[in-house]
Amino acid sequence: MQVNLDFTGRHIFVFGGTTGINFGIAQAFARQGASVTVASRKQENVDAAHQQLAQLGGPVLGVCADVRDFDAVGRAFAEAVERFGPVDVLISGAAGNFLCEAKDMSSNGFRVVVDIDLVGTFHVLRQAYGHLRKPGAAVINITAPQSFVPIRYQAHASAAKAGVDQLTRVLALEWGGDGIRINSISPGPIEGTEGFRRLMAPTEAERAAAQSSVPMQRFGTVDDIANLALFLASPYAGYISGALVPCDGGGALESVKVPLEAAGRAAAATGKPA
Ligand code: COA
Ligand code: NAP
Repeated sequence: MQVNLDFTGRHIFVFGGTTGINFGIAQAFARQGASVTVASRKQENVDAAHQQLAQLGGPVLGVCADVRDFDAVGRAFAEAVERFGPVDVLISGAAGNFLCEAKDMSSNGFRVVVDIDLVGTFHVLRQAYGHLRKPGAAVINITAPQSFVPIRYQAHASAAKAGVDQLTRVLALEWGGDGIRINSISPGPIEGTEGFRRLMAPTEAERAAAQSSVPMQRFGTVDDIANLALFLASPYAGYISGALVPCDGGGALESVKVPLEAAGRAAAATGKPA
């Protein structure tokens, strides 16, 4: 189920928007009448996304660009703005991830995720600034619970996404006077996505346990995230900036609780206060 908000004639640019959650966001805005630009590294993903978005009937542009290449990101914005005018809504969601313990991770393995997620987000925001509609633009960074809940095997992604969320806050300070709002969305585990496939527990029993650890007892859907993006980009969120908005069925609360409860049990066992 998707909410209904009118974005007719608005230009939405989704970086990393050719697959998964970000593509779902692009589709949701296309259904609300927006002119949609999607960009990512792989030509085949750009072509497939372009074809599917075009079927929704509105104006679409697909651009091939790697967020690690500052100049290529700049060229992508120039092309999009030439076609559809200033960007009303920018979604920055390009990311890479894999599971690996820090002690086994190579320098390049750590760097590649920081380069895509954090430096790439800076490239996108920095190059977008001159092309955002002022006043009125809304920017949304897609982060993850790793940004505020330390998670094993996720040293690279945790560090990178925490940096992204701090960029959100700093730029809310710096760009607020231009009439630009900027917020982060932190999705929980979203079924049917590449991130879910890579990071979710491998066995059925472990997945069931992970699902029941979510207070709302279900994994998320791409529509859950797309609806939040529509809301945050809309005038209904006109005074929200610098916020980190989890969309996770309460999952982050539970993850934070687990170690605290374990510490509490240990303290109770020794009879000493934690
Ligand atoms: N475990 C440990 N290290 C890994 C790894 C894994 N599963 N996958 C990649 N690496 C390391 C590589 O060994 C390499 O380090 P090295 O040069 O020291 O050997 C480094 O990471 C870069 O890998 P490479 O494959 O050259 O990077 P890339 O730029 O082609 O791809 C990735 C980037 C690795 C993030 C790739 O998984 C990707 O493109 N992901 C995008 C999709 C995605 O992750 N979606 C989910 C988002 S939540
Ligand atoms: P996904 O489908 O792999 O999406 C990542 C997108 O980024 C792809 O379109 C990819 O396209 C693009 N991309 C990757 N590297 C890029 C680069 N260097 N330059 C430009 N584009 C690049 O994964 P997803 O699971 O939907 O994740 C989307 C976002 O949600 C990510 O920010 C992720 O961290 C976040 N998130 C996901 C979950 C989840 O459960 N899935 C949970 C929390 C947070 P190309 O390969 O064509 O470049």
